[in-house]
Amino acid sequence: MYAAIVVFFASIVGVNSLSIHKRSCSVTIDSDFAVNKFLGDWYMLKRKPTGAKKISVDKYAWHVTKGTGNTLNIRQTGRLTIEGVYRPCFNKTATLTPGVNNGEFLWRSNTAVSRADIEVIKIDEGLAYIDMCVPSKSRGKCGSFVLSRDDSPSEQEVRTMDAGINSELCEDSSKFENLIKPDVEICP
Ligand SMILES: *[C@@H]1O[C@H](CO)[C@@H](O)[C@H](O)[C@H]1NC(C)=O
Repeated sequence: MYAAIVVFFASIVGVNSLSIHKRSCSVTIDSDFAVNKFLGDWYMLKRKPTGAKKISVDKYAWHVTKGTGNTLNIRQTGRLTIEGVYRPCFNKTATLTPGVNNGEFLWRSNTAVSRADIEVIKIDEGLAYIDMCVPSKSRGKCGSFVLSRDDSPSEQEVRTMDAGINSELCEDSSKFENLIKPDVEICP
């Protein structure tokens, strides 16, 4: 009995530590999440900013590979404006260390966002729905975004993505910025 209560409590704490995020409905992390589904190249198509730093994005990609042990390495490339400075060829790495539950990771990198909690909520049909919270003194800054395998989505894919933002991320898709510019080349 005690064990069951401890496990239950631990899992609640685990989710809450990531989900400083105040959501209007409950979110279920994809029970089918497998790291292998997350390997490879992704483009950030839509984003609700964390507000951690003033960033605008022409193009932003994640190149996900296996790291040491059970970690994942992410090479981030893109064309970004960070606090007014245009970065025409952003190229930085980050490491994701799995957390307690499926789909939960600790993000570490030597960029402005050096540490964050990430939840990969769902990976489905070439789209990945992700929440990210950057810790701060009072309460963390949280944001959500959608990664896609395809950097020039069809109207149908955009509709699928908006539906997923509403149902999987529990957010209002109309409040998300479109980031991707299909005609902008990604950096190598
Ligand atoms: C990007 O950074 C990686 C190291 O993280 C490096 O191996 C690669 O050559 C860099 N690419 C470019 C185009 O600068």
